[in-house]
Amino acid sequence: MKMNYSQVSRVSSRNRNRNRSRNSSSSSAGSSDRCDANARAVVEDYRRLPLDARTGLDWVKSVKERPKNQRVNKIELDGEKERSFKSLRVAAKTIVYETNEVEEKISMTHAAFRQFLNGEIDVCGEDDFAVGEETRTASSASSASASFYVFPERPARPETPKLVMPFSCPSPKNSPLPFSAHVLHTVAHIELNAIDLAWDTVCRFSDPSHRLPREFFLDFARVADDESRHLSWCLQRLGELGHSYGEIDAHDMLWLGCYDSRENELDRMAVVPMAQEARGLDAGPRLREKLVGRGDNRSAAIIERITNEELNHVAVGVFWFRKICIERENIVSEEQLKERFLDAVERLTPDILRGPFAHDEREKAGFQRNWYDKTADSSSNSNSAEELKARLELIVNMEERMSS
Ligand SMILES: [Fe+2]
Ligand SMILES: [Fe+2]
Repeated sequence: MKMNYSQVSRVSSRNRNRNRSRNSSSSSAGSSDRCDANARAVVEDYRRLPLDARTGLDWVKSVKERPKNQRVNKIELDGEKERSFKSLRVAAKTIVYETNEVEEKISMTHAAFRQFLNGEIDVCGEDDFAVGEETRTASSASSASASFYVFPERPARPETPKLVMPFSCPSPKNSPLPFSAHVLHTVAHIELNAIDLAWDTVCRFSDPSHRLPREFFLDFARVADDESRHLSWCLQRLGELGHSYGEIDAHDMLWLGCYDSRENELDRMAVVPMAQEARGLDAGPRLREKLVGRGDNRSAAIIERITNEELNHVAVGVFWFRKICIERENIVSEEQLKERFLDAVERLTPDILRGPFAHDEREKAGFQRNWYDKTADSSSNSNSAEELKARLELIVNMEERMSS
């Protein structure tokens, strides 16, 4: 018989306490406890944040340098699109899979998060699992009579940018855009993906078979809301620089990682917030410095703020990864947790754990260094032939999917 979430939590808490006392003499115990506490503290603070409606760039007005020819137009968000949703799950599906236009994804995200935060809608509605054209009945006996939405393989997106292989994307040096606009375009594409990824986590795992609590969905709806503001800032700044989203090609790696982790919530936590989003912590400060070096303090302020807020998203991933592992999967020791994380990453996105890493920022988010940095653990034996094979398989797989 399956236990409900709270029963599993009680049993697993006992396991965790036993395990902690067993591991108390471990040399990494202090570090793991500190990281665990960091992730919890960041997530607790994150959940206290009020609704943030700052989609414009008013907050960077104090930055001095702004060339005279720059336009400062807040992007137009269509209030008409702020529709009322039946449930968070319906909102998430609609935003990811039925909404092509970027501005619509943004305004609908704000509306859905506000409605959920205010208690106007639940995670799932009464009709969300009715069998219809869009659903198929689960063949697995594990989820009783639940029916599942058949998720499309691709999110709804605007016609441009054209999606190409990563090595075909323009680099800052050969980009047709000036450096600042190139950076803002790249980050805008990441933020658009991040909206879809957060909402896909909400709709994909709100199926009752996943047995996740409301807090899980509130956290990821908040992440989606953040990503929408981040995208708004990038779009506005791109406009100020005389450019717009879609002008240069972009790659699809973030979505592929999301799609490949669709079956399991631990895989999703490992691949998206803990691997993909943690890369933002590593890259953000360097991008900011380059923009400051070119005198674009306004763009630098945007990148700095986005990077700071991404730390919350990484912490949310670490928090839920640990919680689900410990309370539901009986994965309790630090070594087991690390192995589960690395299993997901090496299986689904093997090329992503590359330095240089922002160790301090990652630790603030609750990410223990020896989970992601092989050089930090002298006992780990890297099998370079296996890694090379996995990377080659990934590239072949990507090429097949991009050409189909
Ligand atoms: Fe973001
Ligand atoms: Fe993020």
